[in-house]
Amino acid sequence: MSILWNPFKVGQITLEHRLAMAPMTRDRALPDGTPSPMMAEYYAQRASLGLLITEGTQPNEDGQGYLLTPGIHTDEHVEGWRTVTDAVHAAGGHVFVQLMHVGRASHPDNTPHHRTPVAPSAITPAWQMFTAAGMQDIPQPRALNSDEIATTVDDFRTAAARAVEAGADGVEIHGANGYLIQQFLSPNANARTDGYGGSIDGRIRFAVEVAQAVAEEIGPDRTGFRISPGGTFNDIDEGPDRAQTYRALVTELARLDLAYLHVMHGPDEDLLHEIRSLWPTALLVNRGDRPREQIADDLETGLADVVPVGRWALANPDLVQRLHEGAQLNEPDRATFYGGGSEGYTDYPVLDRR
Ligand SMILES: Cc1cc2nc3c(=O)[nH]c(=O)nc-3n(C[C@H](O)[C@H](O)[C@H](O)COP(=O)(O)O)c2cc1C
Repeated sequence: MSILWNPFKVGQITLEHRLAMAPMTRDRALPDGTPSPMMAEYYAQRASLGLLITEGTQPNEDGQGYLLTPGIHTDEHVEGWRTVTDAVHAAGGHVFVQLMHVGRASHPDNTPHHRTPVAPSAITPAWQMFTAAGMQDIPQPRALNSDEIATTVDDFRTAAARAVEAGADGVEIHGANGYLIQQFLSPNANARTDGYGGSIDGRIRFAVEVAQAVAEEIGPDRTGFRISPGGTFNDIDEGPDRAQTYRALVTELARLDLAYLHVMHGPDEDLLHEIRSLWPTALLVNRGDRPREQIADDLETGLADVVPVGRWALANPDLVQRLHEGAQLNEPDRATFYGGGSEGYTDYPVLDRR
């Protein structure tokens, strides 16, 4: 029997198997960012995946970039998330809320406050964003000043506390996919000269401060961190010293004894192996577009401890059962990924359980 079905401990949680649900934005929260009742149903349906990492959730108002994404910075958000965590726990699962501050990857049309997006530096990404009026160029962001950086770190801390208050088993800090934390890591988005840019130590500083603050607030064993080395999404270019940057970042994060590091794997296989050797606790490795028969390969080689899956989990609420039984998988419907109602969200068929 595959190692995939062996239990594994992440922080204080013992997972029944090595699959997890990767974070996926679905744009179905209420207009004020409160999780909708439909979201509780969606996550509870997928509870057999064991560890559910939620969609990106803004830790403050400026952290929002897309329409109808959830927040975790008001009392209403906490109440909404509690219905989600209760439903997941009742169905036997565990849930980490992904804290996502989008930084410059935003558009004023997509936020209730319509403010100019914030970023490490006022550098416009060559990228477009979906809005209610269709695809639009992302406008020039404004640079956060150093007081605002401190406030943002604190907003991550408070958001993590609120997630736990709402019943989450932990949070995952989103340091991937070209959002605020990866913008700080990347020379093409970060031209700061105040100790939060320039050198490698400067560029990783914001990421490390956020991780320290969150771990201090809710405990390192409830804190995960996601990275995407070499990812170019949202017009990110980490430059020629990418490997050194991640070596330094992972070394600093390793000191914090976090529950896990989650790598969204990109082009650099050697770097992934190096990260494995530097990382002392659970390593989650998400490889996009792998064939089904290779799902446990990284577990077998010891490269990964847990394998989060995205689109298969989106389209197959009973993915665990289907893989166990060798059953066919539902195909994900791209047209319903972002926004809308229950169609393509809570209505994917499950196997007959008789
Ligand atoms: C609809 C959709 C939304 C996503 N939203 C997020 C997100 O909010 N946060 C994040 O870190 N990754 C996000 N991702 C990336 C996934 O977590 C995952 O890395 C990617 O889908 C590749 O894995 P897969 O081949 O198993 O789907 C999203 C992917 C999809 C398909």
